[in-house]
Amino acid sequence: MQVRIVTDAPASLRAEALVVPVFSEAALEGAAKGLDGDVDGAIGELLSSGEIKGKSYETALVRAPKKPYTRILVVGLGDAAKFEPYMLARYAGTAVRYLGRRNLKDIAIALPPQAKGNEAACAAFVAEGAIAATLDTTMYQAEPEKTINVASVTISADGFDAKALEGGAARGTAIGEAVNTARRMALTPANHMTPSDMASRAEEIGREVGIKVDVLDEGQMEREGMGSLLGVSRGSDEPAKLIVMTYKGDPSSTEVLALIGKGLTFDSGGISIKPAENMHEMKYDMSGGAGVIAAMSAIGKLKPSINVIGVVPASENLPGPRAMKPGDILRAMNGKTIEVINTDAEGRLILADALCYAKKLGATKIIDAATLTGACVVALGHAASAAIGNNDEFVQYFLRTVKPTGERYWQMPLFEDYTTAVKSEIADLKNSAGRAAGSLTAAAFLKAFVGETPWIHLDVAGTAYLDTESAWQAKGPTGTPVRAFVAMTEALAKNDFKPATPAPNGAKAKATAASSS
Ligand code: BES
Ligand code: MN
Ligand code: ZN
Repeated sequence: MQVRIVTDAPASLRAEALVVPVFSEAALEGAAKGLDGDVDGAIGELLSSGEIKGKSYETALVRAPKKPYTRILVVGLGDAAKFEPYMLARYAGTAVRYLGRRNLKDIAIALPPQAKGNEAACAAFVAEGAIAATLDTTMYQAEPEKTINVASVTISADGFDAKALEGGAARGTAIGEAVNTARRMALTPANHMTPSDMASRAEEIGREVGIKVDVLDEGQMEREGMGSLLGVSRGSDEPAKLIVMTYKGDPSSTEVLALIGKGLTFDSGGISIKPAENMHEMKYDMSGGAGVIAAMSAIGKLKPSINVIGVVPASENLPGPRAMKPGDILRAMNGKTIEVINTDAEGRLILADALCYAKKLGATKIIDAATLTGACVVALGHAASAAIGNNDEFVQYFLRTVKPTGERYWQMPLFEDYTTAVKSEIADLKNSAGRAAGSLTAAAFLKAFVGETPWIHLDVAGTAYLDTESAWQAKGPTGTPVRAFVAMTEALAKNDFKPATPAPNGAKAKATAASSS
């Protein structure tokens, strides 16, 4: 999909349809107001008659026979007072899905007046959302029922800063394409997305964007002492892979941001096997890993000045004659022993070695993402991902940084109680502490492999895929956490985040920061 900026006024754009925004309970303004006369007041009439109310992502089509574009699609943007730029991704996505389903290929999109002064961010969201909306989820159908055929989106720069729009659209294109890369990987069923397939895809992306990719095989993992990751892969004939992508955007710095993602290409539960219902959804259990690989592709294109490594432990979790069994004890790369209480708590086992390896590679900040626990879906539903960390300032920085992306994260605590809960009687740790605070005991388990390095764990079990479609997004994988990964990388590249060291007397970190400034 091509996203172009033209200086023509909305009224003279050449396209098959023009998309204009309206806000709820507001008078017509901007492009909608300017065009209303051309269509004999039809847009104003839609609103005054109550046929549409301007609610978020509501649509109405108006014929514009006298215009080059012949149709105007009115899309609601909700309450103007609550407008945020990321909503433009959903606005553009709604338009692309509505018009693309009706076989239109070439559409033009008008921006709301709020885009003035914030052109780069707004154009980025339009491009991201338009591209994300084209994702074809019917790739295995002989005659796909629901293809989206939009191939070109034009944004009118009339009244806006065209140069800023251009830059924003290029950035949003890179992010939208990365979002779709992650979603396509997740959609691909486990028989076509094995750990080896994931590694090949990472290598292919590395070649495309000029990022170094190394893939450790099981022999190399063995030599590194990755008994935890190897324990999970034992039950499968498909060999595990540890994918490492290295981007050096700031060679003079020793700082390295590690993005780590769970790449469990199929989670049957192993010997602690899952019930059949919804087990097919466990092809999505590599969404965190796909998010890392895809974010690295955007990072390779956007070239921020920061060093980033992407680390993806990829494995299947199957029962089999050689599979790990409940009660088995594994030894992770850092020497810690783990009692396997439940073979279905495998995500933390593969992440444990990936965390150790990222530290060996010099990671100075770590963010991991994983479809880690059903308990996270119980706690937050599909409305937000959990964010849990060992450094509160880093978590706060993360929450501030990623909020504008539209991906939603909610902080959860990491009390000592959870660390106590994952202590084993026989080994250093156990991989399951039962039902209570399942997402937090999982995070406490991971913490044992991180040490003091500022780290944030994202549990995306409820957000990486959805079983409902929306006006702007197909059912299935959402691309979470790609947007957050890219936003954090860009922010850290610009803003050298340095957590204040906690005061020895136990005083709040905040107080330390205030007194030293
Ligand atoms: N991949 C699952 C978590 C999951 C469940 C993701 C539902 C998305 C939707 C993970 O490997 C798992 O099975 N976790 C167990 C942990 C338990 C055994 C401690 C869970 O959540 O039940
Ligand atoms: Mn599992
Ligand atoms: Zn899993």
